[in-house]
Amino acid sequence: MNTFEFKNPTKIIFGKNTIEKLENEIPKDAKVLLLYGGGSIKKNGIYDQVKKALSEFEVLEFGGIPANPEYAILMKALKLIKSENITYLLAVGGGSVIDGTKFLSSAALFDGDTPWDILSKKIRTEKGMPFGTVLTLPATGSEMNSGAVITNAETKEKLGMGGPGLFPEFSILDPQVIQSIPQRQLANGITDAFSHVLEQYMTYPAGALLQDRFAESIMQTLIEVAPKVIEDPTNYEAASNFMWSCTMALNGLIQKGVPTDWAVHAMGHELTALFGIDHARTLAVIAPSHYHFNFEAKKEKLAQYAERIWNITEGSTEDKAQAAIEKTVAFFHELGIDTKLSDYTKDYEGTAEEISKRFTDRGWTGLGEHQDLSPDKVEKIVKMAY
Ligand code: NZQ
Ligand code: ZN
Repeated sequence: MNTFEFKNPTKIIFGKNTIEKLENEIPKDAKVLLLYGGGSIKKNGIYDQVKKALSEFEVLEFGGIPANPEYAILMKALKLIKSENITYLLAVGGGSVIDGTKFLSSAALFDGDTPWDILSKKIRTEKGMPFGTVLTLPATGSEMNSGAVITNAETKEKLGMGGPGLFPEFSILDPQVIQSIPQRQLANGITDAFSHVLEQYMTYPAGALLQDRFAESIMQTLIEVAPKVIEDPTNYEAASNFMWSCTMALNGLIQKGVPTDWAVHAMGHELTALFGIDHARTLAVIAPSHYHFNFEAKKEKLAQYAERIWNITEGSTEDKAQAAIEKTVAFFHELGIDTKLSDYTKDYEGTAEEISKRFTDRGWTGLGEHQDLSPDKVEKIVKMAY
């Protein structure tokens, strides 16, 4: 096991009808900016619950944060934060709204030239404006981690940011919110969370027995509840297990003391930036070819995953590892998630070269758990995913 430090300061308030507890979490004298997305919260009653809980507070609102939160739109919210002397941010939404809020938390206290530098120059956020979240879509884990991914439509870039200043102070997780989520987004959530576990697990054996079993238990739980959640999002037991699995998949715990990969996400973000493909679907496109391409380096963990998750016990390490990749693809397909780039766009020629060039330009010369995935290898992996 590798050496590690672990601190996660986010308070989780989990369960039925917990949105009303909001009022206990925000300082009474705060001037709050309530941030939300395209309006789903107004149709499903979450907005009304939040407003009721905040009736004693001074609250301004900023809606319209799109999926894959867009820099130019967030800059309008930043202007409001500054002109209105906002002191507290409240994100009510999925990963996009929460990530957008994290950017604003950082940008509100940033004194550099342009807030885009936080992303393009990878400036860590040590301190941000305090914020909390009401999660409406289980998927990203953003509600309990300190990372965010922001899109710049003008430059077709999608870049990450983070730092210890970007943990939410609290996150309210009421599993009942999933009742209004469209099937497509439920499938995305399951796929994203499952992929988060894979990124922190599908590397090489590191003698971290407990972390492996944490990771495996999250994947097993997701596989078990996926059909139930999709069939009936009002199934509270399934919804609660789904929601907590998504949070646990990316709150930092399972990656402690183990090597991590994250190359699938790095390549996937480019597919969202170039084609607007849903985040989770880009991962399902890249992961199979990534595992085929890096088969030798990953085969032992692939075989362990085959045995423990998919009950594949026959054959050599290679046979099991191979079968595990196929099982993973079949799982995505069962969720209605396509796994080839050509399923999403006819315009894919040249994509691999473009992504490879972008990584070279950014100096990303060694991705993956061995930091050996150079841009020429990235090009091959993306091509295999056509
Ligand atoms: O915008 P509204 O109208 O609210 O609708 C949203 C949106 O259209 C809808 N939705 C959310 N909750 C709903 C609902 N519809 C009905 N009922 C509800 N309760 O769902 C759509 C997608 O929402 P979005 O927030 O974009 O989805 P998700 O949570 O999957 O977030 C994706 C973003 O998070 C980033 C992704 O790259 C992407 O930009 N990620 C963030 C991570 C992090 N911060 O740790 C890690 C992830 O790997 C990921 O990169
Ligand atoms: Zn993800």
